Amino acid sequence: MQEIEKYILSHIDKEPELLQQLSRDVHIKMLRPRMLSGHLQGRLLKMLCRMIRPKRVLEIGTYVGYSALCMAEALTDEAVLHTIEINDELEDFIHQYFNQTEISKKIHLHIGDAFAIVPIIDETFDLVFIDGDKRDYWKYYDLVFDKVQAGGFILADNTLWNEKVIDDNQPDKRTNGILYFNDRIATDKRIEKVMLPMRDGITLIHKIDN
Ligand SMILES: C[S@@+](CC[C@H](N)C(=O)[O-])C[C@H]1O[C@@H](n2cnc3c(N)ncnc32)[C@H](O)[C@@H]1O
Repeated sequence: MQEIEKYILSHIDKEPELLQQLSRDVHIKMLRPRMLSGHLQGRLLKMLCRMIRPKRVLEIGTYVGYSALCMAEALTDEAVLHTIEINDELEDFIHQYFNQTEISKKIHLHIGDAFAIVPIIDETFDLVFIDGDKRDYWKYYDLVFDKVQAGGFILADNTLWNEKVIDDNQPDKRTNGILYFNDRIATDKRIEKVMLPMRDGITLIHKIDN
Protein backbone atom coordinates (compact mmCIF):
# COMPACT_ATOMS: atom_id res chain seq x y z
CA MET A 1 0.00 0.00 0.00
CA GLN A 2 1.29 3.45 -0.90
CA GLU A 3 2.08 5.92 1.91
CA ILE A 4 -0.62 8.33 0.77
CA GLU A 5 -3.22 5.55 0.81
CA LYS A 6 -2.16 4.59 4.34
CA TYR A 7 -2.50 8.22 5.35
CA ILE A 8 -5.99 8.48 3.85
CA LEU A 9 -7.17 5.24 5.47
CA SER A 10 -5.94 6.38 8.86
CA HIS A 11 -7.92 9.62 8.58
CA ILE A 12 -11.30 8.35 7.44
CA ASP A 13 -13.92 6.15 9.12
CA LYS A 14 -12.61 2.73 10.07
CA GLU A 15 -13.60 -0.27 7.98
CA PRO A 16 -16.18 -2.18 10.06
CA GLU A 17 -14.87 -5.42 11.63
CA LEU A 18 -17.15 -7.66 9.51
CA LEU A 19 -15.92 -6.03 6.30
CA GLN A 20 -12.30 -6.39 7.43
CA GLN A 21 -12.95 -10.10 7.95
CA LEU A 22 -14.74 -10.39 4.60
CA SER A 23 -11.86 -8.68 2.82
CA ARG A 24 -9.26 -10.96 4.48
CA ASP A 25 -11.34 -14.04 3.66
CA VAL A 26 -11.70 -13.01 0.01
CA HIS A 27 -7.96 -12.45 -0.32
CA ILE A 28 -7.33 -15.98 1.00
CA LYS A 29 -10.11 -17.91 -0.77
CA MET A 30 -11.24 -16.11 -3.88
CA LEU A 31 -10.01 -15.47 -7.38
CA ARG A 32 -9.53 -11.79 -8.27
CA PRO A 33 -9.94 -10.30 -4.75
CA ARG A 34 -9.18 -6.88 -6.20
CA MET A 35 -12.73 -6.79 -7.55
CA LEU A 36 -14.01 -5.94 -4.08
CA SER A 37 -14.49 -2.21 -3.47
CA GLY A 38 -12.33 -2.06 -0.33
CA HIS A 39 -12.01 0.34 2.59
CA LEU A 40 -11.85 3.74 0.87
CA GLN A 41 -14.40 3.15 -1.90
CA GLY A 42 -16.66 1.33 0.54
CA ARG A 43 -16.75 4.35 2.84
CA LEU A 44 -17.40 6.61 -0.17
CA LEU A 45 -20.36 4.44 -1.25
CA LYS A 46 -21.75 4.62 2.25
CA MET A 47 -21.29 8.41 2.36
CA LEU A 48 -23.01 8.81 -1.03
CA CYS A 49 -25.97 6.84 0.31
CA ARG A 50 -26.07 9.13 3.36
CA MET A 51 -26.14 12.13 1.05
CA ILE A 52 -28.62 10.85 -1.54
CA ARG A 53 -30.85 9.04 0.97
CA PRO A 54 -32.13 6.60 -1.68
CA LYS A 55 -35.20 4.50 -1.01
CA ARG A 56 -34.47 2.04 -3.81
CA VAL A 57 -30.95 1.06 -4.84
CA LEU A 58 -29.79 -1.34 -7.56
CA GLU A 59 -26.33 -2.86 -7.82
CA ILE A 60 -25.15 -4.84 -10.86
CA GLY A 61 -22.28 -7.10 -9.76
CA THR A 62 -22.43 -8.21 -6.12
CA TYR A 63 -19.25 -10.34 -6.10
CA VAL A 64 -19.02 -11.16 -2.35
CA GLY A 65 -21.39 -8.43 -1.15
CA TYR A 66 -18.81 -5.94 0.14
CA SER A 67 -20.15 -2.85 -1.65
CA ALA A 68 -23.76 -3.91 -1.00
CA LEU A 69 -23.06 -4.04 2.75
CA CYS A 70 -21.38 -0.61 2.61
CA MET A 71 -24.34 1.02 0.86
CA ALA A 72 -26.90 -0.77 3.02
CA GLU A 73 -25.18 0.57 6.17
CA ALA A 74 -26.43 4.06 5.31
CA LEU A 75 -29.92 3.09 4.16
CA THR A 76 -32.99 3.85 6.26
CA ASP A 77 -35.08 0.92 7.50
CA GLU A 78 -37.68 1.27 4.77
CA ALA A 79 -35.11 1.37 1.96
CA VAL A 80 -34.20 -1.68 -0.16
CA LEU A 81 -31.06 -2.51 -2.09
CA HIS A 82 -31.37 -5.03 -4.92
CA THR A 83 -28.03 -6.56 -5.87
CA ILE A 84 -27.49 -8.95 -8.78
CA GLU A 85 -24.71 -11.53 -9.15
CA ILE A 86 -24.42 -13.85 -12.15
CA ASN A 87 -21.97 -16.31 -10.56
CA ASP A 88 -24.04 -18.76 -8.50
CA GLU A 89 -20.89 -20.25 -6.95
CA LEU A 90 -20.64 -17.08 -4.86
CA GLU A 91 -24.10 -17.41 -3.31
CA ASP A 92 -23.15 -19.44 -0.19
CA PHE A 93 -20.15 -17.22 0.51
CA ILE A 94 -22.29 -14.07 0.23
CA HIS A 95 -24.95 -15.49 2.59
CA GLN A 96 -22.28 -16.55 5.08
CA TYR A 97 -21.50 -12.84 5.55
CA PHE A 98 -25.01 -11.40 5.08
CA ASN A 99 -26.22 -13.77 7.83
CA GLN A 100 -23.87 -12.14 10.31
CA THR A 101 -25.44 -8.70 10.21
CA GLU A 102 -28.86 -7.07 10.56
CA ILE A 103 -27.81 -4.62 7.83
CA SER A 104 -28.42 -7.33 5.23
CA LYS A 105 -32.16 -7.25 6.01
CA LYS A 106 -32.24 -4.26 3.65
CA ILE A 107 -30.51 -6.26 0.88
CA HIS A 108 -32.30 -8.39 -1.69
CA LEU A 109 -29.78 -10.67 -3.42
CA HIS A 110 -30.67 -11.93 -6.90
CA ILE A 111 -28.54 -14.68 -8.40
CA GLY A 112 -28.62 -14.50 -12.20
CA ASP A 113 -27.89 -12.32 -15.18
CA ALA A 114 -28.67 -8.62 -14.74
CA PHE A 115 -30.09 -8.57 -18.28
CA ALA A 116 -32.73 -11.12 -17.25
CA ILE A 117 -33.32 -9.83 -13.71
CA VAL A 118 -33.49 -6.03 -14.04
CA PRO A 119 -36.57 -6.14 -16.32
CA ILE A 120 -38.48 -8.22 -13.76
CA ILE A 121 -37.68 -6.10 -10.70
CA ASP A 122 -40.80 -3.98 -10.48
CA GLU A 123 -39.14 -0.85 -9.06
CA THR A 124 -37.69 2.49 -10.02
CA PHE A 125 -34.37 3.45 -8.44
CA ASP A 126 -32.88 6.52 -6.82
CA LEU A 127 -29.38 5.09 -7.12
CA VAL A 128 -27.78 2.45 -9.36
CA PHE A 129 -24.24 1.13 -8.93
CA ILE A 130 -22.88 -0.43 -12.14
CA ASP A 131 -20.03 -2.82 -11.32
CA GLY A 132 -20.55 -5.90 -13.53
CA ASP A 133 -18.74 -7.08 -16.67
CA LYS A 134 -16.76 -4.18 -18.16
CA ARG A 135 -17.68 -5.28 -21.71
CA ASP A 136 -21.35 -4.58 -20.99
CA TYR A 137 -21.21 -1.21 -19.24
CA TRP A 138 -23.16 0.71 -21.91
CA LYS A 139 -25.75 -2.08 -22.13
CA TYR A 140 -26.27 -1.99 -18.33
CA TYR A 141 -26.66 1.79 -18.52
CA ASP A 142 -29.24 1.47 -21.28
CA LEU A 143 -31.00 -1.29 -19.35
CA VAL A 144 -31.38 0.76 -16.17
CA PHE A 145 -31.72 4.33 -17.48
CA ASP A 146 -35.52 4.42 -17.71
CA LYS A 147 -35.79 2.80 -14.28
CA VAL A 148 -33.80 5.60 -12.66
CA GLN A 149 -35.98 8.36 -11.23
CA ALA A 150 -35.52 11.84 -12.69
CA GLY A 151 -33.05 13.44 -10.29
CA GLY A 152 -31.58 10.02 -9.44
CA PHE A 153 -27.98 8.88 -9.61
CA ILE A 154 -25.93 6.21 -11.37
CA LEU A 155 -22.40 5.30 -10.24
CA ALA A 156 -20.09 3.36 -12.54
CA ASP A 157 -16.98 1.71 -11.12
CA ASN A 158 -13.60 1.09 -12.81
CA THR A 159 -14.05 3.78 -15.45
CA LEU A 160 -10.28 4.38 -15.66
CA TRP A 161 -9.69 0.62 -15.93
CA ASN A 162 -6.16 0.53 -14.62
CA GLU A 163 -5.43 3.57 -16.86
CA LYS A 164 -5.87 1.39 -19.94
CA VAL A 165 -8.29 4.08 -21.16
CA ILE A 166 -5.26 6.20 -22.11
CA ASP A 167 -3.11 3.34 -23.38
CA ASP A 168 -2.49 3.55 -27.13
CA ASN A 169 -2.01 -0.20 -27.53
CA GLN A 170 -4.67 -2.40 -29.10
CA PRO A 171 -7.45 -2.36 -26.46
CA ASP A 172 -8.89 -5.68 -25.25
CA LYS A 173 -12.66 -6.26 -25.06
CA ARG A 174 -13.06 -5.02 -21.50
CA THR A 175 -11.07 -1.87 -22.19
CA ASN A 176 -13.18 -1.30 -25.30
CA GLY A 177 -16.33 -1.67 -23.18
CA ILE A 178 -15.13 1.01 -20.78
CA LEU A 179 -13.93 3.30 -23.61
CA TYR A 180 -17.31 3.06 -25.34
CA PHE A 181 -19.17 3.71 -22.09
CA ASN A 182 -17.03 6.72 -21.17
CA ASP A 183 -17.41 8.26 -24.66
CA ARG A 184 -21.18 7.84 -24.68
CA ILE A 185 -21.50 9.24 -21.15
CA ALA A 186 -19.39 12.25 -22.11
CA THR A 187 -21.90 13.30 -24.78
CA ASP A 188 -25.16 12.22 -23.10
CA LYS A 189 -27.21 15.40 -22.64
CA ARG A 190 -29.71 13.76 -20.26
CA ILE A 191 -27.18 13.66 -17.44
CA GLU A 192 -24.56 15.55 -15.47
CA LYS A 193 -21.38 13.57 -14.84
CA VAL A 194 -18.07 13.74 -13.04
CA MET A 195 -15.26 11.18 -12.97
CA LEU A 196 -13.29 10.74 -9.76
CA PRO A 197 -9.72 9.45 -10.17
CA MET A 198 -10.10 7.41 -7.01
CA ARG A 199 -8.89 3.80 -6.94
CA ASP A 200 -9.76 2.57 -10.47
CA GLY A 201 -11.94 5.54 -11.36
CA ILE A 202 -15.57 6.01 -10.44
CA THR A 203 -18.03 8.05 -12.50
CA LEU A 204 -20.89 9.82 -10.73
CA ILE A 205 -23.90 10.46 -12.95
CA HIS A 206 -26.96 12.57 -12.16
CA LYS A 207 -30.09 12.08 -14.29
CA ILE A 208 -31.30 15.60 -14.95
CA ASP A 209 -34.68 16.38 -13.44
CA ASN A 210 -36.45 18.36 -16.20
C1 LIG B 1 -16.13 -6.05 -9.81
S1 LIG B 1 -17.11 -7.37 -9.24
C2 LIG B 1 -18.26 -6.55 -8.16
C3 LIG B 1 -17.61 -6.03 -6.91
C4 LIG B 1 -18.57 -5.50 -5.86
N1 LIG B 1 -19.57 -4.61 -6.43
C5 LIG B 1 -17.80 -4.73 -4.82
O1 LIG B 1 -17.51 -3.55 -5.06
O2 LIG B 1 -17.43 -5.29 -3.78
C6 LIG B 1 -18.08 -7.74 -10.64
C7 LIG B 1 -19.11 -8.85 -10.45
O3 LIG B 1 -20.09 -8.74 -11.49
C8 LIG B 1 -20.56 -10.03 -11.80
N2 LIG B 1 -21.23 -9.97 -13.11
C9 LIG B 1 -20.66 -9.94 -14.34
N3 LIG B 1 -21.61 -9.88 -15.30
C10 LIG B 1 -22.81 -9.86 -14.66
C11 LIG B 1 -24.17 -9.81 -15.10
N4 LIG B 1 -24.47 -9.75 -16.41
N5 LIG B 1 -25.14 -9.82 -14.18
C12 LIG B 1 -24.85 -9.86 -12.84
N6 LIG B 1 -23.58 -9.93 -12.37
C13 LIG B 1 -22.57 -9.91 -13.26
C14 LIG B 1 -19.29 -10.87 -11.76
O4 LIG B 1 -19.57 -12.25 -11.61
C15 LIG B 1 -18.53 -10.27 -10.57
O5 LIG B 1 -18.78 -10.99 -9.37
